[in-house]
Amino acid sequence: MHPETLAIRTQTARSAHREHATPLFLTSSFVFDSAEQARALFAEEIAGPVYSRYANPTTDEFVEKLRLLEGAEDGLATASGMSAVYTALAALLQSGDHVVAGRALFGSTHQLFTRVFPKWGITHRYVDGADADAFAAAIQPNTKVIFVETPSNPGLDLVDLAALGDLARARGLTFVVDNCFATPVLTRPIGFGAHVVVHSATKFIDGQGRVLGGAIVGEASRIAEARFLARHSGPALAPFNAWVLSKSLETLALRVERHASNALALATALEENAAVQRVRYPFLASHPQQALARRQMRWGGGVLTIDVGAYETARRFLDGLRLCSHSPNLGDTRTIVTHPTSTTHSKLTDAERARVGITPGLVRISVGLEHVDDILDDVSQALASAR
Ligand SMILES: Cc1ncc(COP(=O)(O)O)c(C=O)c1O
Repeated sequence: MHPETLAIRTQTARSAHREHATPLFLTSSFVFDSAEQARALFAEEIAGPVYSRYANPTTDEFVEKLRLLEGAEDGLATASGMSAVYTALAALLQSGDHVVAGRALFGSTHQLFTRVFPKWGITHRYVDGADADAFAAAIQPNTKVIFVETPSNPGLDLVDLAALGDLARARGLTFVVDNCFATPVLTRPIGFGAHVVVHSATKFIDGQGRVLGGAIVGEASRIAEARFLARHSGPALAPFNAWVLSKSLETLALRVERHASNALALATALEENAAVQRVRYPFLASHPQQALARRQMRWGGGVLTIDVGAYETARRFLDGLRLCSHSPNLGDTRTIVTHPTSTTHSKLTDAERARVGITPGLVRISVGLEHVDDILDDVSQALASAR
């Protein structure tokens, strides 16, 4: 079946109540039918509902849908995108290991590599994500993982997934992709050779700015390691959030298509606006990796960036918006505008920001599902007032 159908028709077995919509199992534990069943469940890898830190039917339904959409063997849900990134990496790495990562990373992932993992002797090397040869050159004898985001947040740089999938296989490394920006609707990294895909479900998967959530999907043996760590460290996704996210997956394809068509229309219009120094969007001819984007992504995604020049101009632009929200989230039905230098990427040094293209005037626009003319009118009036 097609992904749209799988996302809608994958459902926990119907209960005796014959419910049509997916039920919500809002329970922390489950009762045993017998003492022998309890003993047997605890004797081995616990499969089946016992305790919601291990598994819950609502959470399982959300993961099962995402697993099918990503074409993965197995998966688990986590409480947030960062718990997915952390759990996946902590499960795959041990003291003395090394990671090669694309430099353009979400701020908290950068904090994990620079402040958290070094405490356990896990080191990293950042390379230019656009340069596939740089990844090969950075591999050391103790390298275990290649980690990338594509398109990156907020630089919208692309990484050639097929080239890195081949490299990881040739060198016996685990290839991990944060697929938060593309979602499986646009890119399925496992088809390009990724072993593990991590998600912040908080973004396009929820799509309506309501809940935090995350997921790790991929090759069964790697997911087994992550599941063991998650069971005993506890980043479980709350069943209520899983229910919201499972329902959200039913409309993901529809929403992502409209996010992308609105974003392309807005990006194209803003390229003509004299108040904007530079527009970046993967499907624009001006994007240096447009050919790769069109090879690797079904559409260009729902996020674009504009550079309005100085910080003061960006400040006036943000304060001049009347419809669009000024907020640090993205992937919402509502258009959200963020200033990375002063918020999401404020912990980076000026030099680190410059290396990933985050200038003081850079503004990220997560294009929502309002009518595109209304979004353009608001952005245009705020640009005019900021000049
Ligand atoms: C690419 C990327 N990965 C991970 C995360 C973290 O997700 P969460 O906020 O759900 O922990 C984000 C959040 O913005 C993100 O943009």
